[in-house]
Amino acid sequence: MLSRPRRNRQSAAIRGQVRETVLTPANLVQPIFLMPDPHARLPIASLPGTFRLGIEEVVKEVAACRSLGIYSFIMFPAVPEEHKDKTGTYATSAENFYLHAATRLKTEFPDICLISDVALDPYSTDGHDGLVVNGKIDNDQTLPLIDAMAVAQARAGFDVIGPSEMMDGRVASIRKALDAEGYTDVSIMSYTAKYASAFYGPFRDALDSAPRLLKDVPTDKKTYQMDPANRREALREAALDAAEGADYLMVKPAINYLDIIRELADAHPLPIAAYHVSGECAMLLAAAERGWLDYQQAASEALLSIRRAGATVIISYFAKDFAKWCQRDFH
Ligand code: PBG
Repeated sequence: MLSRPRRNRQSAAIRGQVRETVLTPANLVQPIFLMPDPHARLPIASLPGTFRLGIEEVVKEVAACRSLGIYSFIMFPAVPEEHKDKTGTYATSAENFYLHAATRLKTEFPDICLISDVALDPYSTDGHDGLVVNGKIDNDQTLPLIDAMAVAQARAGFDVIGPSEMMDGRVASIRKALDAEGYTDVSIMSYTAKYASAFYGPFRDALDSAPRLLKDVPTDKKTYQMDPANRREALREAALDAAEGADYLMVKPAINYLDIIRELADAHPLPIAAYHVSGECAMLLAAAERGWLDYQQAASEALLSIRRAGATVIISYFAKDFAKWCQRDFH
């Protein structure tokens, strides 16, 4: 045989030398679920190892991640029911604990990159990302609400605004609103290809943000999130977001949509972010708990696959653990 591919796999030194994809903690974003009680530390039954934290606990968590080489965080609020209404008024309120937490984090850790979430669902009594009007999610009436939310977040200190609500025209609308207030340096990480996925379950448990079973309120998000069957439509969304001034294009979920990540990475020179979502992490954790999979090996392989597919920014509940493994292992 002239060609023996196995020769290049003979030792750890050779494998390291020819390895094509490297993932470092600098690529990873750690999600944070924030509670109003400053000292809260509440487990999430469907996502073992991830907690809903109060700001004092978040400060400790961010410090720990930073010392492991993770400098990026995406934060979501668990809003008490009494603060919810149809229009998500609390999202821009001066009392909002989420906005206060952002200011505190950026004051204590000016070198971190803090990413926000723009969507009505954590604040909405309907549990939808947009405004429900006569049983429908109204695109154009949602836009001013999310623009105001983005501006409030920029003012609070977030570095990157993360619109996750899939309304049409939102990137241009948010960009215009940010620029008008002087926040020209605040970036937009657009959830470009966000699919109507079954893998968001644990996240909705964590925030109690699932669509509500109410009369005249749709029970799923299929009129705004994308159909999992569609690939070309992701290219259409990406072209719009790029033209509207997005700084990153995101694909979500990640593992079930690696083809979409590759597609967008090939089509656009913008950085591609991938959201390795709660359900994708939860199923791996559940199998590991039963001894059916090795957590470290399976989680590392999943993260590496997302990177290999073309994502440079990876949001994952495994971020911190992966950074720990990087410190220990060099093979
Ligand atoms: C909603 C939002 C969701 C997630 C991030 N932002 C849930 C949804 O669309 O219902 C899911 C993330 C995850 O599952 O980890 N604004």
